Amino acid sequence: MRVTIFGTGYVGLVTGACLAETGNHVLCVDIDPTKVERLNRGEIPIYEPGLESIVKQSHAAGRLRFTTDLAEGVAHGLFQFICVGTPADEDGSADLNQVLSVARSIGEHMVEYRVVVDKSTVPVGTADRVKAEIEGVLNRRKVKIEYDVVSNPEFLKEGAAVEDFMKPERIVIGVNDPRTAALLRTLYEPFNRNRDRVIVMDPRSAEMTKYAANAMLAARITLMNEFANIAERVGADIEQVRVGIGSDPRIGYSFIYPGCGYGGSCFPKDVRALVASSNAVGYQPQLLSAVEVVNERQKEILFAKIERFFGGALRGKTIALWGLSFKPNTDDMREASSRVLMESLWAAGCKVRAYDPAALDEARRIYGKRADLTLCDSAEDALDGADALAIVTEWRQFRSPDFDLIKERLGSDAIFDGRNLYDPSLLKRHGLKYFAVGRGDSLAL
Ligand SMILES: NC(=O)c1ccc[n+]([C@@H]2O[C@H](COP(=O)([O-])OP(=O)(O)OC[C@H]3O[C@@H](n4cnc5c(N)ncnc54)[C@H](O)[C@@H]3O)[C@@H](O)[C@H]2O)c1
Repeated sequence: MRVTIFGTGYVGLVTGACLAETGNHVLCVDIDPTKVERLNRGEIPIYEPGLESIVKQSHAAGRLRFTTDLAEGVAHGLFQFICVGTPADEDGSADLNQVLSVARSIGEHMVEYRVVVDKSTVPVGTADRVKAEIEGVLNRRKVKIEYDVVSNPEFLKEGAAVEDFMKPERIVIGVNDPRTAALLRTLYEPFNRNRDRVIVMDPRSAEMTKYAANAMLAARITLMNEFANIAERVGADIEQVRVGIGSDPRIGYSFIYPGCGYGGSCFPKDVRALVASSNAVGYQPQLLSAVEVVNERQKEILFAKIERFFGGALRGKTIALWGLSFKPNTDDMREASSRVLMESLWAAGCKVRAYDPAALDEARRIYGKRADLTLCDSAEDALDGADALAIVTEWRQFRSPDFDLIKERLGSDAIFDGRNLYDPSLLKRHGLKYFAVGRGDSLAL
C-alpha cells in the first residue's frame, strides 16, 4: 500500500520505517530540510534502538523515501498519516498549528480519495477540526473529493518504539465509516497476526483514550512519589512498600517506581492538555491538576537534598551527573528531570560534569557551550574532581558501578540517587553516603 507520513520525529519515523519494513511504499514528509537531508544521507536524527537498520534497509530498497515536498506527499499515499508535534501552548492546551497546517496541505493538493490518519496526540474533537479544515480548502478550490479522517493514537514508548510498533498491545482506530476501518485493518494486518489487537471505536473516544492512558500512568507514578515522600518522613522504605503493594494483582508492579519525577515529550504535556480541555468545558479536574503540581515538585527533590547535605554552601561545588535523558534508551531530554536539577545547581553556583550514553549531543544542542557544564565521555570521567554524584536516569550501565572507584573520586562520598538503583546497606559497606527517594534518609540529612 502507499503511505504518506507527515512529520519524521519519534512517531513519524518509526511508523514510516515499520510500515516500509512490512512491504508498503512509504514517503515521509517533513518541513525541516536539514532533517530530510540527513535522512536521505542515511543518518538517523534520533536515537531509538533498532531504528537505524530498518530505515537503512527500506531506504536502500526504495520503499522508504524522504522529502520536504508537501504536494508530492499528498499525491503519494492513499493513507496520509499526521505525525507532527502537538506541543503545549502557553495555557497548557495542545497547540494544533502543525496538525491543522498538514490538514490544509492535504486539502490544497488532494485530487482523489484519501484516508487522513491522525497519529499525533490531539484533544477530543480534533478529527472534526481536521475535517473542517480540509473541507474549507476544498470549498475554496470549488472541488468535491471524498476523504475520511481517522483517529489512530500512538502508544509506542520511546526507547522501545520499534518493538512497540511491531508488536503493539492494541491498535486503536477511531472511525465512523466501517469501510475506512477495514482499510486500516488491512494496513495493520502484519502487526496483528497472533491475536486481534485492533479496537475500533468512534474518533472522539479514540482521542480521549490516548490522554486517559497517559494521565493514568502519570498519576500512578505521581501517587507512588507522594507515598515515597511520606515514607521518607515517617522512616519507612518505599522500595519495601512497592514490593508489598505490587504483589496485589489489582495494583501490579508496573509504573509504581518512585523517583525524581516523570518527564519526556508526552506525560507532562498530555496531562496539562487534558486539564486545559476539561477546564474549557467547565470541569475542574482536581486530581489531574494535582498530578502536575506534585510531579513538578518531585523534580526538585534531588537539588533540595544536595543543598541540605552541603548546608546550603553550594557555590563552587562540582556535581557529577549520571543520566540526562528523561528515561533510559532514548536521547530525548524534553522535560527531563536532569534539566531541572542542572539548572538549579547552576543557579546555586555549582559546576556539573554530566554523562549520558545517548543524550550528550542533545544536551550540547540545548545548552551550548557553558563554563559550568562539562559533558563527559564516560560515567567514570564525570566523577573526576566531583564533590558528589547525582543519578537521574536509570540506564542499565549505572546499575552496578565500581563503588570503590566512586568513593575514591568523590570529595564528599555522597550519592544522590533519583531512581533508587542501589541497596543502601551495600553502599554503606563501601563507605558511601547514600540518599535515595523515600528510603528513610531525610532524617539523616
Ligand atoms: N514521542 C513519543 O514517544 C510519542 C508517543 C506517542 C505519541 N506521541 C505524539 O505524536 C506526535 C509527534 O510526536 P514526536 O515525538 O514524534 O514529535 P517530534 O517533535 O519528534 O516530531 C515532529 C516532526 O514534525 C515535523 N513537522 C512539523 N510541521 C510539519 C508539517 N506541516 N509537515 C510535515 N512535518 C512537519 C517537525 O519538523 C518534526 O520533525 C505528538 O503529538 C506526540 O504527542 C509521541
